[in-house]
Amino acid sequence: MYYSDDLVEEVRSRSDIVDVISGYVRLTKRGGTYFGLCPFHNEKTPSFSVTPSKQMYYCFGCGAGGNVFTFLMNYENVTFPEAMKTLADRAGIQLPEQELSEQEKRQASLKKTLLDIHKEAGRYYYYQLKSKQGEAAHAYLTGRGLTEETIRHFGLGYSSMYQDDLYRYLRSRGFHDSAIAQSGLVRIEERGCHDKFWNRVMYPIMDVNSRIIGFGGRVMGQGEPKYLNSPETMLFDKSRNLYGLNFAKASRKDFFICCEGYMDVIAMHQAGFTNAVASLGTAFTPQQATLLKRYTSQVILAYDSDGAGVKAAMRAIPILRSAGISVRVLNMRPHKDPDEFMKALGAEEFEKRIQNAENFFLYQTSVLSRNYNMEDPEQKTAFYRETAKSLLEFPEELERNNYLEAVSDRFLIPKDSLKKLVSQMSRQVGLVKKEDEPVRMPAEPDKAGAKKEKDDGNKRAQRMLLTILVGDKRAYPKIRELIGPDDFTEKLYREVAEEVFSMLAEDKMNPAAILSHFINDEEEYREVARMFNASLPGGLSEEEQDKAFTETVRRVKKNSLAQKGRQVQSFDELQKIVRAQKELDGLTLRLS
Ligand code: UTP
Ligand code: MN
Repeated sequence: MYYSDDLVEEVRSRSDIVDVISGYVRLTKRGGTYFGLCPFHNEKTPSFSVTPSKQMYYCFGCGAGGNVFTFLMNYENVTFPEAMKTLADRAGIQLPEQELSEQEKRQASLKKTLLDIHKEAGRYYYYQLKSKQGEAAHAYLTGRGLTEETIRHFGLGYSSMYQDDLYRYLRSRGFHDSAIAQSGLVRIEERGCHDKFWNRVMYPIMDVNSRIIGFGGRVMGQGEPKYLNSPETMLFDKSRNLYGLNFAKASRKDFFICCEGYMDVIAMHQAGFTNAVASLGTAFTPQQATLLKRYTSQVILAYDSDGAGVKAAMRAIPILRSAGISVRVLNMRPHKDPDEFMKALGAEEFEKRIQNAENFFLYQTSVLSRNYNMEDPEQKTAFYRETAKSLLEFPEELERNNYLEAVSDRFLIPKDSLKKLVSQMSRQVGLVKKEDEPVRMPAEPDKAGAKKEKDDGNKRAQRMLLTILVGDKRAYPKIRELIGPDDFTEKLYREVAEEVFSMLAEDKMNPAAILSHFINDEEEYREVARMFNASLPGGLSEEEQDKAFTETVRRVKKNSLAQKGRQVQSFDELQKIVRAQKELDGLTLRLS
């Protein structure tokens, strides 16, 4: 899919960001900026800002930022072309049809048909549940404690006894065999058509936008397999979905509860815990973690308390942590899962368990401890060693020490001995140089560290210079002669600089338009958005501002010259560079 830059910019410029975002978030004006509660993380005081002059939004809490397109993409979980379409419609701009390739058009229309089929199937199953044939299924669900309201809310249903009921229904609604087959809900063979689900209680699986993309079907009572699920289709990729997320995202709690099963989610929602989602019995995936991170940065795991559940929780923890999510684990004992727990002890007791959910590290350590017999000195020592080793995973001293204290209190390990063991081990594996010094990589540790610091400094300066150029009109004329896009050695920054400089040359600064060029890469546009929404540290005197400006420019130029110096061919060139470097030392710039 390709839209011309002009068209993208036309749609963007005719979609006022304050208007659009106001449709989703309550904004209050303060000075030239609007503020509201960030829809991308949970918060109680507004740190989400929308700046009309830049046509950008930025959250000072979670760092989410971008233009009107990225807002829609993230909020509605749609692709860029879909966001384009929505905004174009809204602004009354006709998007040219031919911009879709034939193949893409077919895909888009098939996807729409499959969504329609699922919607119809969902209705059909729901209707069956409410009809005479569905009485047993209905009784099964109410027998498990579900209310009428819950059944309706989750759109639960029943697939009848007949082997091709759904097929015939879908045909009667005008769908063709090929689309029906691709929905995965019916197997079409020469000998006949067979509905995939047959005499089962049906659980529609919805995407974040509450569109049905698949089903799970449970036998009533005993039977194998207990659950049958939709196969992977164009709509349904179970590694990228979480059951209940469409409801949980609106719960406005500052954490999510993640469990294993359909019934667990349903039972928790019915009991008022509308922030529960399930990974549906598959191993928790990194894609699911990324998906969750859009809505929360805290997860409480409520996996089954049996061996399989513990294993699944242990595997999910590092995946969630790598996505930047903090994790705690809820103890359901003596009950097996949230559904059973809720029935046995009720919501109030569950709330207490939430409050008492255990920090992930203590949980991991306690699971580990079950493998050792602490009566046996040898095994006990082995357990201490393992614990020390896992503490090494915290690179930061302060954090490591906090965990060290916590585990030694909890498992009655002598604190000082554990501390010694940790630093002894860390030296052995070459992670830490001396006791409590920060982590350094082996082999010329100092040089590597220093180089990284220098690189970071150079990156920071390039970023800051772009920030200043975008935010302060006075800067460009002062540096125009000295610095150009070529001086930005970081690829992303150079691309941004090229656009910033050309806009400044025409005196038409438009950061939101620049951002559109990075829309296909979330990491890139987030970084660009962050750059465009930052500013020099507040509270600087004019003199200090000038000094910061000068230092930034000097650093960018010096780094660029140094890089050129490494590539020179002739002595003449080298001399020029050296001279330019010298001149930089005496540089003083003033913004005012
Ligand atoms: P559970 O067996 O814990 O299911 O499996 P549950 O939701 O608690 O089911 P009830 O309470 O017995 O009705 C957890 C999840 O694993 C998937 C389902 O998504 C289920 O919700 N699963 C389980 C399957 O896909 N197939 C199976 O045969 C079993
Ligand atoms: Mn269960």
